[in-house]
Amino acid sequence: MSDLDTIIANAQAAFAAAATPADLENAKAVFLGKQGQLTELMKGMAALSVEEKKTRGAAINVAKQAVEGALTARRQALADAELDKQLKAEALDVSLPGRQRGQGGLHPIALAWDRIEQIFGSMGFDVADGPEIENDWFNFTALNNPPNHPARSMQDTFYVDMNDEEAQPYCLRTHTSPMQIRYATAHAKKHANDAVFPEIRVIAPGRTYRVDSDATHSPMFHQVEGLWLGENVSFKDLKITFLNFCKTFFEDDGLVMRFRPSYFPFTEPSAEIDIQFSKGPLAGRWLEVAGSGQVHPTVVRNMGLDPEKIIGFAFGSGIDRLAMLRYGVNDLRLFFEGDVRFLSQFR
Ligand code: DAH
Repeated sequence: MSDLDTIIANAQAAFAAAATPADLENAKAVFLGKQGQLTELMKGMAALSVEEKKTRGAAINVAKQAVEGALTARRQALADAELDKQLKAEALDVSLPGRQRGQGGLHPIALAWDRIEQIFGSMGFDVADGPEIENDWFNFTALNNPPNHPARSMQDTFYVDMNDEEAQPYCLRTHTSPMQIRYATAHAKKHANDAVFPEIRVIAPGRTYRVDSDATHSPMFHQVEGLWLGENVSFKDLKITFLNFCKTFFEDDGLVMRFRPSYFPFTEPSAEIDIQFSKGPLAGRWLEVAGSGQVHPTVVRNMGLDPEKIIGFAFGSGIDRLAMLRYGVNDLRLFFEGDVRFLSQFR
């Protein structure tokens, strides 16, 4: 093998062995660089005769072209391999199933809320909605809870600065009871001239707020208010209505209920409502589920109605608590943390 053939073979082998473009450029320098083997051969030609220069020069050029050809081919091969690697790394598997849109569902409190509206709706109750920022009159005073009355401290209140012209304090409503006044007042106005007073039968579910936070209290929670007023509405109606509601809501026909004497400024007499399940893990325990009572004459008067003629009852119950009991949830905070592992169980 001539010296040139050896150089070509060595160059091909060195280029093939170069695994990266940098390796390849280093290998190139050995043959084609300033002090490369072919370059040195060119320099060596100075000592040759003109005839010899011709043939030797031509031979070296052929060898140089062969080496350059090998170099170019190897450069291309390395670039192709690099591109291939990139394409593989960024490959999209178009046969993979697409990212599904998550299947949503109603929140357990919304489910309970819907159920409450449905059940009371079936017993002829209207559903009313009102403001969550409430003024002092509706939240307290009209409900027979005058300024400085100690019963106001039963509720830790978020007060709101509204720059009201009448300088009336505003708060985030601490209960849904103000809806009794709002609804009944509007009803009284609407029917002021009717010969026969059309009964009021309404529930008002909604958000309520108190300065309170632990496993069974949240600063924002949900209540449902109930009000039934007419010329002949009694505690018996309250008991039947609420018992029916509980039996249906909890799907427990053997459920029993009791009134326990209590105090609320807006009712007289007042009672807590306790229930006992006939089945399930809580069976046999008395559970408090609502406050209730006969609407206080002062409250009836504040509605624009005549307490000598109009009588009835009201109740207020925690929707979150009803939902906890129905779904067996032991920590109220789970409702408000937004953890899908919890929420997806209600889909
Ligand atoms: N508003 C009361 C509370 O939040 C609950 C309540 C008690 C509502 C008795 C009523 C009622 O309508 O008659 O603690």
